[in-house]
Parts: sequence; C-alpha cells; structure tokens
Amino acid sequence: MLHTPVLLDAVLNHISEMPDEGWFVDGTFGRGGHTRAILAAKPKWNVLALDVDAEAIEHGTREFSTEVSNGRLRFAHAEFSDVVTWVRSLPEGATIVGVLLDLGVSSPQLDEARRGFSFYHDGPLDMRMNPEVGRPAADIVNSWSEKELNDLFHFMGEVRSPFRVSRKIVETRRERKFTTTRELSDLIASIEGWRKKGHHPATNFFMALRIQVNNELDRLTAALPKVVEQLQPGGRFFVITFHSLEDRIVKNAFREFVANDLGRLVNKKVIQATWTEAKENPRARSAKLRIFEKEFQGDEI
Ligand SMILES: C[S@@+](CC[C@H](N)C(=O)[O-])C[C@H]1O[C@@H](n2cnc3c(N)ncnc32)[C@H](O)[C@@H]1O
Repeated sequence: MLHTPVLLDAVLNHISEMPDEGWFVDGTFGRGGHTRAILAAKPKWNVLALDVDAEAIEHGTREFSTEVSNGRLRFAHAEFSDVVTWVRSLPEGATIVGVLLDLGVSSPQLDEARRGFSFYHDGPLDMRMNPEVGRPAADIVNSWSEKELNDLFHFMGEVRSPFRVSRKIVETRRERKFTTTRELSDLIASIEGWRKKGHHPATNFFMALRIQVNNELDRLTAALPKVVEQLQPGGRFFVITFHSLEDRIVKNAFREFVANDLGRLVNKKVIQATWTEAKENPRARSAKLRIFEKEFQGDEI
C-alpha cells in the first residue's frame, strides 16, 4: 500500500511563511511523502532525509534520484537522535530552517510480512525498524514475565485489561515458543474478540511491542533537545505523533523549551486531521501535530 503523508496540508501551511533558503531535516523519511511536497513547496530548500530503515533509504535513493543528483536531497541511514552528526556533515554554512519527525511506522513497513509488524500478514515476530539493531519482538513475548507483559500492554499499549492475554502467552509458551505474528495475533483475537469494527484486537498489543522493541519513547526524548539545538533562530520543529505517551513527551518538552526562553509554540492547541482527511486516511485519525519555533536571540534579531 502507498503511504499517504499525514497532516501534510497543516505542515505545508506552516512552512509557507518560513524563509526561502536553507536545509530542512526530514528525520523520518519513510516513503518521502512529506519530503516530496516540501521540496516542491520550497524550491530553494534542500532536504536532509534520515531513516533507521535501510529499505526506506534505498527506496528513496531510487525514487528521488533527480533530487539527489541535483543536490537538493541527501540521505542518511540514521537515527533521528543522531541528528547532530548528520547536520555536521552538511556543507559549511548550511543552516537548519526546520525539522520534521513523523513518528511510528510507514504503510510499506506494515504491509511487508517479513518485517513482522503485521497482524494481518503472517511473518516472523520481529518489528525492528532497523533489523541490524536490538532484539526482535519474539524475545519479549517468549521471555518477559506475566507482570512485565501486562505492564507493557497496559502502559504502552493502553489496553485496559490485558491480564488474560498475558497469562495465555505465558501458558502457551511453556509448550512452544512464539515465532510468528499470526501465532500471537490469533491468540489475542481468540481472547479479546472483535469488539471495535475495523480495529483488529491485536492493534494495541502490537503497538506496545513495537514501541518497546524500537525503544521509541527514549529515542524521542533524547532527540528533542538535540533538534532544537540544531535549528537556526526562527527555525521550526514539527512533530507528528500517533500515541498519547509520545504526544505527552513532545508537549512537555516543548513547554520546557518555552519556559527556558528557547522559543514559542506556533499553535497553542495541538493540530489534528480534518474530518475529510480522517475519513480518507484512517492513520490520520490519531495523529497530532505540534510545532515549536526557535526564538531569535539578542543580537541575532
Ligand atoms: C510514519 S513513517 C514516515 C512517513 C513519511 N513522513 C512519509 O510521508 O512517507 C515513519 C518512518 O520513520 C522511521 N523511523 C522511526 N523511528 C525512527 C528513528 N528513531 N530514527 C529515524 N527514523 C525512524 C520509520 O522507519 C519509518 O520509515
């Protein structure tokens, strides 16, 4: 499935009033939906695109070969928390006008069974965005205690009562280890049933595992101050989240930046998808966009 960029109009609206020249960092390139639109909207901007997923970078390098060869786009197979290193690799004098983090997984990652994110397509129970780093989801499912699994599903997955699923996992793995996504999603479906229409009962359990496997909350927390440090005065930092814990991390960090006189919130209220966007793109329903603008300091004005 093609990846439809979320809250694209809102991002474009907020870049239209920004300076005409500079480097923009797309820290979560994915399939390049946001990058493509940003390059078109700002003909004098260059983009530095990062993604931990080597397949996203390979796909982008092929798909955007013109922009790469004319120097408007640079790729790095990298973590956005390593943004400082990659900004340093830009040509001398490059200034960072803006940064976007559009968190979570892309549609191609979800659709590709062998990546192990999907409860619809059977594949190895993996879920690593960078399969070279960390341990697959199966390790957690096969080794964490019932209480640890419960806490994970409850706090990260926001499942109100995951007890029966956690218990069943522990019972089942005494007989055989979990190796595939379907083994786990079938177990969850057999216990939870299909309560909400169109919402697979394993959705939140899988999301919790994915966030844990990729250490997503810690990486986000670590990245936020580094990004602000890299922005030029007046530069804007856009973050799109899909999970309330992520949104809380961003909201609190932005408030702290404001309290420390580092800048201002561009919108007092979080930006969410319009009714039409949410109808056309179900991923957009839980998306929240926050924008921080770095302050001009003293003699820089
Ligand atoms: C929701 S998709 C981005 C979609 C993109 N904006 C588009 O329009 O095509 C998120 C992407 O971020 C990447 N990603 C997730 N965590 C990351 C991290 N810590 N550092 C770099 N990339 C990350 C994922 O591999 C995935 O490709």
